[in-house]
Amino acid sequence: MTKTITGPDASKRNLELCQMAPVIPVLVVNDINASAGLGAALVRGGLPVLEVTLRTSCALDAIAEMAKIKGGIVGAGTLITAKDVENAVAAGATFGVSPGATAALIDACEANGLPLLAGATSASEAMALMERGYTVQKFFPAQAAGGASFLKSLASPLPQITFCPTGGVSLANAAEYLASPNVKCVGGSWVAPSDAVKAHDWDAIETLARDAVTALG
Ligand code: 3PG
Repeated sequence: MTKTITGPDASKRNLELCQMAPVIPVLVVNDINASAGLGAALVRGGLPVLEVTLRTSCALDAIAEMAKIKGGIVGAGTLITAKDVENAVAAGATFGVSPGATAALIDACEANGLPLLAGATSASEAMALMERGYTVQKFFPAQAAGGASFLKSLASPLPQITFCPTGGVSLANAAEYLASPNVKCVGGSWVAPSDAVKAHDWDAIETLARDAVTALG
């Protein structure tokens, strides 16, 4: 039988994930043959927590492949519907990420035992998630929604909430986010550029991961 979880359970797990590395790579996998090499390179470079977005036809297969990587922790991103949650869990995802949050999505994650890193963009959205026990949240789309200064402004009125800003985050601005007391890690695709993935240039991706850990860890 599936073990259900609550918002506080999910928040506890999300905090653990955020403390494992300063960056959660956000991956859009177009080629299933690239998934194992890509995931392994990021893990070798020091970024073990991987988000595979459900935006491509091979995303679920990529999750299944990456779930086999020793030392890696694979989650499903871009969760929108309850069906996405079921598919992600069946593929082997052990956490979920969503751009926003609905009651139906949260219910599905809780019923399927999947810790959800749910997205919020405003104080009201963050407070609504907190009412359900979700005190570790994604801030999305981070740069477009106000960037590090916006997020820092939430730290004083909402000190209970920790964020993982994602969307427009890069090595150039990640440190600014991480300097805010309510940020424990960031999410971003910059550590897995599409040209390097296409070329199966795993050394380049490992180096990008390692550089991120060195600069931000
Ligand atoms: C996304 O929307 O794909 C994620 O938030 C990652 O955004 P990024 O490509 O700007 O890092």
